[in-house]
Amino acid sequence: MTDVSTRPLPPIIVTENLTKVYTSGRVRVAALRGVSIEVERGEFLAIVGPSGSGKSTLFYLLGGLTRATHGKLIIDGVDFAALDDAERTRLRKHRIGFVFQRFNLLPTLSAMGNIEIAYVVSHRKEPMDLKFLDHLTSLLSIQERLKHRPAELSGGEQQRVAIARALITRPAIVLADEPTGNLDSKNSDAVLAMLLKLNRELGQTTLMITHNPDAAAIADRILHLRDGEIVGEEKGARAAPALPGFGSSASAPESPPAAD
Ligand SMILES: Nc1ncnc2c1ncn2[C@@H]1O[C@H](COP(=O)(O)OP(=O)(O)O)[C@@H](O)[C@H]1O
Ligand SMILES: [Mg+2]
Repeated sequence: MTDVSTRPLPPIIVTENLTKVYTSGRVRVAALRGVSIEVERGEFLAIVGPSGSGKSTLFYLLGGLTRATHGKLIIDGVDFAALDDAERTRLRKHRIGFVFQRFNLLPTLSAMGNIEIAYVVSHRKEPMDLKFLDHLTSLLSIQERLKHRPAELSGGEQQRVAIARALITRPAIVLADEPTGNLDSKNSDAVLAMLLKLNRELGQTTLMITHNPDAAAIADRILHLRDGEIVGEEKGARAAPALPGFGSSASAPESPPAAD
């Protein structure tokens, strides 16, 4: 497989001076105050910031779930601000997979049903690729749990099903908002390791939003958000290219390289 990091392609996400002001009555809240970022193809980027810093607002904007007040958002070469709602929805369904803190699985469907319905509503022309489904559920270690309903699964399992649901359509971009926010530390570590592994194996771009610096540390790069502005940037503990063999089955290291 080609190394995605060496391809001379433009960044998959570019924002310029992205601004969001919420208005309710006469009260205006500037949730994002001019965010300019670039995300490379295949990158695992974490955006970390305290509660109220604008993380979810940025997530909704990047996912095309809401519109910016000002600024530019280019996703895979497409200017999102120039799209009408129908086009934005279509592009979102084709290019972006969402993972939420509260999993948001449908309670009456099995794990498999939840994955299948995500595929159905994406309106892909081709039928679901069963080999890919098998690969994905195996990478996520949920193959034994597919017949169970969400209530019969642990939080960690539910989030892994939710990740399979986000990835079954093979989106170019995976957006995760506090994916470990409702998990204990053991399940949280497992979910983070899987997000990283999937990012490496499937080559999509992953953008994870979190208030937890330990979770953010697994990323290639970490951006710090405060009061609606990016105030700093650093490399994550597993910054590429120091990942020989990670994710390529047999040679995957079991523990992260010693940080600092
Ligand atoms: N729909 C909304 N209407 C008004 N203010 C909002 C709305 N959503 C978020 N905010 C405000 O915008 C700021 C950023 O919120 P949010 O993006 O949810 O931050 P985070 O996810 O980092 O906690 C906060 O001050 C919040 O109160
Ligand atoms: Mg939030």
